[in-house]
Amino acid sequence: MINVGILGFGTVGSGTAKILLENRDILEERLGFKINLKRIADLDIKRDRGIKIPKGVLTTDANLVLNDPDIHIVVELMGGIRPAKDFILKAIMNGKHVVTANKALLATEGTDIFDAAARVGVEVGFEAAVAGAIPIIKVMRESLVANRIKAVYGIINGTCNYILTKMTYEDVEFADALKEAQKLGYAEADPTLDIEGIDSAHKLTILATLAYGIPLSFNQVHVEGISRISSLDIAFASELGYKLKLLAITKESDGKIELRVHPTMLPKDYLIAKVDGPFNAVYVDGDAAGSTLYYGRGAGSVPTGSAVVGDIADIARNIRMNAVGRVPIPTKISSGAGIKKIDDIVSMYYFRFSALDKPGVLSKISGILGNYNISIASVIQKGRKVGEAVPLVVLSHEAKEKDVRKAIVEIDRLPVVMDKTVFIRVEGRQES
Ligand code: HSE
Repeated sequence: MINVGILGFGTVGSGTAKILLENRDILEERLGFKINLKRIADLDIKRDRGIKIPKGVLTTDANLVLNDPDIHIVVELMGGIRPAKDFILKAIMNGKHVVTANKALLATEGTDIFDAAARVGVEVGFEAAVAGAIPIIKVMRESLVANRIKAVYGIINGTCNYILTKMTYEDVEFADALKEAQKLGYAEADPTLDIEGIDSAHKLTILATLAYGIPLSFNQVHVEGISRISSLDIAFASELGYKLKLLAITKESDGKIELRVHPTMLPKDYLIAKVDGPFNAVYVDGDAAGSTLYYGRGAGSVPTGSAVVGDIADIARNIRMNAVGRVPIPTKISSGAGIKKIDDIVSMYYFRFSALDKPGVLSKISGILGNYNISIASVIQKGRKVGEAVPLVVLSHEAKEKDVRKAIVEIDRLPVVMDKTVFIRVEGRQES
């Protein structure tokens, strides 16, 4: 029998407890031994979570988990950096294996945790930290181990995907869609982490370390969220044949690693563009496997609990087979590749200029774009309001971000341009 103690009885903690209790028969049947939920520690053990917890399991004292010599696996589902990190380090020092869903902690201070675990010789499972129920960590560490990874593209924040989907299909403003996402339990305690792209950046940091053997590099991720996206841009994107998604991207280009999270326009017919609502998807392009795509629920109590229990089962099997460390913790940094600065990336771009509707304006704007080597693929101008600002939408071929930023500064200074230019990066085929 393998004993488990959970720290944190919130959304994911209760989902994990529910699975461990309600699916214990199927787990035992598949593993050939029992997984016993010995303790759950949380400051609030009064609130009803709708699960029947056996007597004596709930406690308000985390030390009853951390110091119990019978507990093999400590499951940290509290979130946040402190005291979660101290508890995990203490569990490791006490020789316990750890399972965590804490992407913020791993992305920012994970090196300390991985190093400590490697020194002591215990496992750290973190499948639930990225894309909830989708087994993407196992894919990156095990299934695709033979591949050089060309690129990873992820829709890895359910809140943002839910909001953008609502804005795309229903006439809903950003703020109302966010409220709905929070009500449904997708959002983090502080929704800024979701809508400003930080949660996606945490998850991307972990994926990039697994894909490229680089150190956890959260501080070097270029992050833009969705809070300034307007339904006007979503509508123009649609007219041009694109969907707008918050995409987390890591890829190798010119011997460097790109690490970026930003709103991205994707061709509507791409499979990943069809991923709507709170669902997540991760596209991985490997040199041997080719394109692969993983889809599922990236948030929520039981879906995330499914990934947590998957890790518990994996570690329990390794304990039983004397195979702890079978899949090494990502501590060995194998790559010296640097991170590419956002200014150095090459992408296609969508621009929305607020330009006066009068002759010669388009040629002024396109002249500046041309001076910076930005070639135009298509143009839309809607409405006719002589003497007033109208949206002028331009889609470019591949251009350098550095040039795009300089061109926009110059264009925004033109007297015929009435508002700040909006630009959104576009992925997919180049238009001819
Ligand atoms: N807030 C996250 C999301 C939860 O919306 O995807 C899962 O990490």
